[in-house]
Amino acid sequence: MNAIYDRRSIRKFQNTAISRETIIAVIEAGRAAPSAKNRQPWKYIVFANSSKRDLLDKMEIGLNREENIYPALPKSKFGLADAKSTLKVMYEAPVIILVLNTNGTSPFIPLDADARITEICDTLSIGASIQNILLKAHEFGLGTLWIANTCFAYKELAEYLKIDCQLIGAIALGYAGECPHQRPRKNIEEIMEFRF
Ligand SMILES: Cc1cc2nc3c(=O)[nH]c(=O)nc-3n(C[C@H](O)[C@H](O)[C@H](O)COP(=O)(O)O)c2cc1C
Repeated sequence: MNAIYDRRSIRKFQNTAISRETIIAVIEAGRAAPSAKNRQPWKYIVFANSSKRDLLDKMEIGLNREENIYPALPKSKFGLADAKSTLKVMYEAPVIILVLNTNGTSPFIPLDADARITEICDTLSIGASIQNILLKAHEFGLGTLWIANTCFAYKELAEYLKIDCQLIGAIALGYAGECPHQRPRKNIEEIMEFRF
């Protein structure tokens, strides 16, 4: 419960390496998550040092393409500035974990209702797994950032990873270089109602 309430999104990291054992232990927590029909549709690919730089250089190319050449997500243009700040955080974080939906397909391919429902269930399962990872990392004294801004460089990242499943996003992991206050939450009355 402490981890649930004390976890924060971290956007400044210390330059301290994280051991492979620690990374495995946090992903083990992700492995324990519930999933629709127990499909366990998650895969985690871990980047650090030069492999992380190569990956993020591809993401930078994608953000530039999105801004200056061809916007694949034109209605989300307002989010590009935020994506650029996220990329800076990703360069600073010692570890980036990419998150894949192994049952998913590119979000640029349309889905029928059946496939959409399956995808919703798989996405929810992966969300549960990611949250477990964030909480386990917090227990180890590590900071994390859950990242969806990879979507702006989807094509470049998917090509670089040579995947034909779905890139869901990323998690930045490292010792925190900041201690943010809790961000505001909606009141309980706003998000629930009793019907009895
Ligand atoms: C699905 C998802 C995607 C997110 N993507 C990003 C992102 O790309 N960049 C970023 O800085 N924060 C991202 N966040 C973090 C949210 O901004 C953050 O969780 C929210 O503002 C609440 O703050 P807290 O995590 O400190 O409680 C994401 C969070 C979620 C759950």
